[in-house]
Amino acid sequence: MHRSWMKPSLTGPSTALLAAALGCSGSGGDDAISEAAARGKTVYLNVCIACHAVDPTQDGPLGPAIDGATLPLLEAKVLRAEYPPGYEPKSAGITMPRYDYLAEQLPDVAAYLAELDR
Ligand code: HEC
Repeated sequence: MHRSWMKPSLTGPSTALLAAALGCSGSGGDDAISEAAARGKTVYLNVCIACHAVDPTQDGPLGPAIDGATLPLLEAKVLRAEYPPGYEPKSAGITMPRYDYLAEQLPDVAAYLAELDR
């Protein structure tokens, strides 16, 4: 049995895809943001823009602008469909589902939403 063939699939291809998506060859427009922010941008573009705008400073088709969203806000909203205590939501809705599989990526998403790339 040559099961070891299957092993690299988790890290190998996905890393390559990320690199391709981010234009890591060096000439892309992401040079100005940190690596964490670049990773967060990938998550944002993969998941969040179904409802939020591609440009986080703009309102999207469903979700409001979320540039500058802090990690505590992201953790509350994305992981628990809640808001931090005392936070006043931009929209009174409860449309957004939870994405609790993103827990480990949220610091990167927060970095992206803080830095953006402009
Ligand atoms: C299915 C649509 C949808 C997706 C996908 C989605 N959101 Fe949302 N989001 C919303 C909507 C709609 C709201 C407004 C409140 C509500 O209705 O839940 C919102 C609100 C938010 C807020 C609160 C904004 C504020 O200050 O009040 C944050 C933060 C947020 N989203 C982050 C994210 C992140 C990060 C992702 C990707 C991981 C994401 N959302 C993916 C629909 C979505």
